Amino acid sequence: MSTSIESKRREKIGAIATASMANRAMPLIRNAWYVAAQGSELGRTPIARQLLERSVVLFRRENGEAVALQNRCCHRSFPLSEGRLEGDTLVCRYHGFRYNCEGRVIEVPSQSHPPGEIGVHCYPVREKSPFVWFWAGDPGKADEACLPHQEWLESADWDRYAGYLHINASYVHMHENLLDLSHLSFLHEKTFGTPEYARAPIEMTVEPPNFEVWRHVECELPAIYSKPLGWTGQKAIRSSGAQFVGPGLHVNTGVFRNLEIPESGQEPKPMVKVAQLITPESRDATHYWYCLSRNFARHDEGVTEFMKNAQYAAFSEDVYALEHIRGMQDLGEPPGFLEINVAADRPGVEMRRYLKQLSDAEQAG
Ligand code: FES
Ligand SMILES: [Fe+2]
Repeated sequence: MSTSIESKRREKIGAIATASMANRAMPLIRNAWYVAAQGSELGRTPIARQLLERSVVLFRRENGEAVALQNRCCHRSFPLSEGRLEGDTLVCRYHGFRYNCEGRVIEVPSQSHPPGEIGVHCYPVREKSPFVWFWAGDPGKADEACLPHQEWLESADWDRYAGYLHINASYVHMHENLLDLSHLSFLHEKTFGTPEYARAPIEMTVEPPNFEVWRHVECELPAIYSKPLGWTGQKAIRSSGAQFVGPGLHVNTGVFRNLEIPESGQEPKPMVKVAQLITPESRDATHYWYCLSRNFARHDEGVTEFMKNAQYAAFSEDVYALEHIRGMQDLGEPPGFLEINVAADRPGVEMRRYLKQLSDAEQAG
């Protein structure tokens, strides 16, 4: 930086830009659908999970429907997840208050009837295999039509597997990471990045609420894709897309074309779709579910296992990066320090502005 005037000018511009973007301190966005669990986690034994700064108890009714209630008995705050299910009622283990699946107390053992309409919050829940979604905010605003529809997530034409990672960092930074294809050649150089990626042109859509980036790169595919496709050592075009769908979901797409096989022999094109499901545990910790679907190497358990392990290794690198950044943030900002944005950051920056607007509107409401 050449002069103190320039330094001050950039400081001012940077401070204005930063203030308009979502960050880890921002109040969480509650009026949205988020994943609460994989369907396979829920059964007739209640489980506790911290979601959006609240403790939630999750279980299934006798007919298999998923239920999500505030996990804090309205009597003396004992966690209801420690209680037991009797039919479609949940009995608190401390003094036996009995709750129905709407969260209402229907029995107080020490007296003839409950003292009025008492109970705990009941979260709207919808199950769309393989995930259970819940609405964290005002139940009156829980619009089922806003539930993300991803036909490849449920279609029998794709093979899929789901996984989970816990991140000790803000979900805002995870969203930005997912909309950022400029880190693949570096952070993921040993997993699914390739050197050609770093300088490839980036196509961007930045039209709130739509944020999407694409890169089309001629390369040898990384092993996670080349091995299952049998394309090791062959030249291909790898098209990668990253799309922000909402505060709880982000989708990545990979489309592959082998340059050593006639294009006519490559229909349907081999593709992967990755649902990235991001649920804040708190402002500083994030549940990160993902589900990779593929339309090639169908019904091959060996390929599933190989891709699952390779993807876990790659996504763990994102966790590593975000947790290290959080460590720096925890130290506080040195005087005059401002993060610099470059052109490739634009979709992420604009998406963070959009998240901030959503949060501000909720706070104002
Ligand atoms: S704390 Fe649950 S019944 Fe008393
Ligand atoms: Fe990454």
